[in-house]
Amino acid sequence: MDGTLYSRIGGATAVTTAVDALYRAVLGDPRLAGFFAEVDLDGLKRHMGALLSQTLGGPADYTGRELRAAHDGLHIGADDYALVGAYLIGVLAALQAGDDVLREVRGILGAVEADVVE
Ligand code: HEM
Repeated sequence: MDGTLYSRIGGATAVTTAVDALYRAVLGDPRLAGFFAEVDLDGLKRHMGALLSQTLGGPADYTGRELRAAHDGLHIGADDYALVGAYLIGVLAALQAGDDVLREVRGILGAVEADVVE
């Protein structure tokens, strides 16, 4: 199949939909909502969308902090991380992302866990 993973899931529109759905799920989960109580959600969504686009081979214009710096001091546990990761996989699957995309994202989730979890 042709194209980047980004174009195959549906480009910018799909990424925006995925990020909106991700934070709706996360904020609706009482185990996770507290982490985001003081956060500028529009900025966070913009950065998460840019990072996801870049990761999937779309436009590379992420200007946020390194993941380790962004999550330092938040005391995110492995269980919190697993929940957010499962929501992300879930929203991508709901967008009909192919197994190749899901495999790629799972791989990245494993690779960056140590930058996010304390
Ligand atoms: C692979 C998993 C994750 C990715 C790719 C990711 C990505 C990001 C990005 C791009 C930012 C914005 C950085 C910036 O604006 O400079 C951010 C901030 C944040 N993330 Fe994550 N995140 C992940 C997992 C988590 C988890 C598991 C939690 C909590 C349960 C979490 C909580 C937060 C919070 C609270 C902020 C805002 C921090 C602040 O503004 O001071 N993240 N994340």
